[in-house]
Amino acid sequence: MPSNLLITGASQLLTLRGRAPRRGKALSDLGILKNGAVLIRDGVIAAVGTRAELESLPETRAAEKLDMGGRVVLPGFVDSHTHLIHAASRAEEYELKIAGASYEEIARKGGGILNSVKKLRAATSEALKKRAHAALREFAAHGTTTLEAKSGYGLDVASELKILRLHKELSGEQPLEIVSTFLGAHVVPAEYRNRLGGAERYVALLTETLIPEVAGEKLAEFCDVFCERGAFSLKQSKEILQAGKESGMLPRIHAEQLTRTGATRLAVKLGAVSADHLEQVSKADIAALAKSNTVATLLPGCDFHLGLSKYAPARELIEAGAIAALATDYNPGTSPTMSMPMILSLACTQLRMSPAEAIAAATINAACSLRRDNRIGCLEVGKQADIAVFDLDDYREIPYYFGVNKCWMTLKKGRPVFQTAHT
Ligand code: NIG
Ligand code: FE
Repeated sequence: MPSNLLITGASQLLTLRGRAPRRGKALSDLGILKNGAVLIRDGVIAAVGTRAELESLPETRAAEKLDMGGRVVLPGFVDSHTHLIHAASRAEEYELKIAGASYEEIARKGGGILNSVKKLRAATSEALKKRAHAALREFAAHGTTTLEAKSGYGLDVASELKILRLHKELSGEQPLEIVSTFLGAHVVPAEYRNRLGGAERYVALLTETLIPEVAGEKLAEFCDVFCERGAFSLKQSKEILQAGKESGMLPRIHAEQLTRTGATRLAVKLGAVSADHLEQVSKADIAALAKSNTVATLLPGCDFHLGLSKYAPARELIEAGAIAALATDYNPGTSPTMSMPMILSLACTQLRMSPAEAIAAATINAACSLRRDNRIGCLEVGKQADIAVFDLDDYREIPYYFGVNKCWMTLKKGRPVFQTAHT
């Protein structure tokens, strides 16, 4: 029996319909319908229009009705950069950072990513899965319906495969869609450091063993590298991303976060789907991104959590014509949040993006970076009914409120996966 659902009573229905990706002025186009309604058939959008239009369709008569009671309805958030699987927080480092230690100083002393690697290797799959399930419930509770997830806290064959297999298992066990990325090139693991040619040997392990294995088992769609001082050089990043590409995994890259390495230009050259962070980009990098189809994914949660004052130059990127997206970068070291609304608040106050730009960056443009804009990121006929509902009158209030959760309901493929107790 096909199940139809008619959604009505939105104060504002943000459809995000139209051309994707959104660049420049088009980034503010939310395609808002007043008194809008959505008809869903078997989890897919069958019609979008005003309530009167949809109620006149014969098909809506038998449909189950869901009244949103004057709330804001929009596509579910697409969180295109997370490090979902990790074993524990790094609250101890948070305290050190507040006292004045830098992220790089902590990393040099074996803290940072290596600290999380140690913890992950010691953790069972069951424990990791339990923690991820709890995080996924939080993502859903903040309006996220699809998220990308990177490996990268394993850094040996067994542990990286363990993480990527968990992505797959989690996809089948809970409603949110998880898009898997291989980030074996997060940092060089401890056992390869301080030995002659250690870094080169680790790169060889990635390109000759892990990448073919991951691709062979179809465990990741994308391959990522942390191109940064203390992580991987430009030359190593190129080698790894090229190997990934040859195995069928599209490149993404952590670029120009703490220092300018040239990673953005490499991303453009390789046709990467996304270059992420971008705090330290140069004018020429911005121009290169603007001319490309590589999405500029901005992660203001990191700068906020690390207490850094230099955020990515979002205005310059948008005005030059780059494709801007926003993501949480959920991870234990630099951005421990599952809240896209909080990221939108930071995008508005720190990146000077308008609320409309921030919403388009967190939905349709993020969907483009995951190569899923044909399916998610907007509310159009034929698209998946992935929907977030906020207990607000006006979409601008989504970033306006911060530190409180105003998400009222989240639907994945037309089914509620989160609903607040408040009515
Ligand atoms: O995106 N930069 C590399 N990866 C994460 C941080 C990881 C960590 O500190 O554990 C990031 O910021
Ligand atoms: Fe990251």
